[in-house]
Amino acid sequence: MKRKNEGHRYTDDIAREYELITLAYPDFEAFQRRMVEGVDFAAGAEREEPFHLLEIGTGDGFATVKLLRAMKAAGNRGTFTSVDINHEMIEKARALLKTVEPEHSVHLRESDALAYLQDEPEGTFDVVATSFTLHNFERTYREEVEKQIHRVLRTGGLYTNADKYAPEGQEQFDALARHVDQFFEAFVPRGKTELLRKWVIHNISDQSPRHVMFADETVARLQALGFRKVALTERAGLQAVLRAYKG
Ligand SMILES: C[S@@+](CC[C@H](N)C(=O)[O-])C[C@H]1O[C@@H](n2cnc3c(N)ncnc32)[C@H](O)[C@@H]1O
Repeated sequence: MKRKNEGHRYTDDIAREYELITLAYPDFEAFQRRMVEGVDFAAGAEREEPFHLLEIGTGDGFATVKLLRAMKAAGNRGTFTSVDINHEMIEKARALLKTVEPEHSVHLRESDALAYLQDEPEGTFDVVATSFTLHNFERTYREEVEKQIHRVLRTGGLYTNADKYAPEGQEQFDALARHVDQFFEAFVPRGKTELLRKWVIHNISDQSPRHVMFADETVARLQALGFRKVALTERAGLQAVLRAYKG
């Protein structure tokens, strides 16, 4: 049975003014870049079958552009599909791609991530890439998404995610306090108090039992699913970059 993430958490002005997140999150784009740098777009070039890349959570398209440019720079002529549940986000990404990559060749799909994955045949993708999206999912939904990512990857394929991977105990709450403080620093001087309120609630909710994506627990779960070489690197505060290969 298909399960959807009905209560997806990027709506109203958080979605409309999403780009302001980089003010509160100085290393936000750096994390996206590190995720992209870990993808070997030349891998499998000797194979006959075309290369397929899937991005989950297009957002405003900033990571999409980085992935597309890296793919093109490697001379990779495969397909690139990016999925987001939010119409407004898909339209933002479409506009961005049109401006910065007019010859863009990304298939933008407005869809629930799990529903999309469940419809894809096994072993379809060489890479499933995502950033700052899965931490928004409810844990049970995210676990289904991870299972489906494993299923849709071809053997040897890469799953990579730049995201919030929480440490545990006191470290988690110290990191959350520093994180929330950055939102105050960025938004108060700009008078964005209503947006600040929403982001603070959002950030606290990210660390709640319903949503939290613990680092060590994730590594163990992905290994149990059959991923190999599962690694969380570049850990800083609440963030890290995940790389895992289908065994
Ligand atoms: C925080 S944004 C991240 C966007 C982008 N990847 C980035 O790095 O900036 C999360 C995105 O995930 C999308 N999203 C949330 N739940 C989703 C779901 N169940 N299926 C597909 N997309 C979803 C939201 O609409 C939003 O655009």
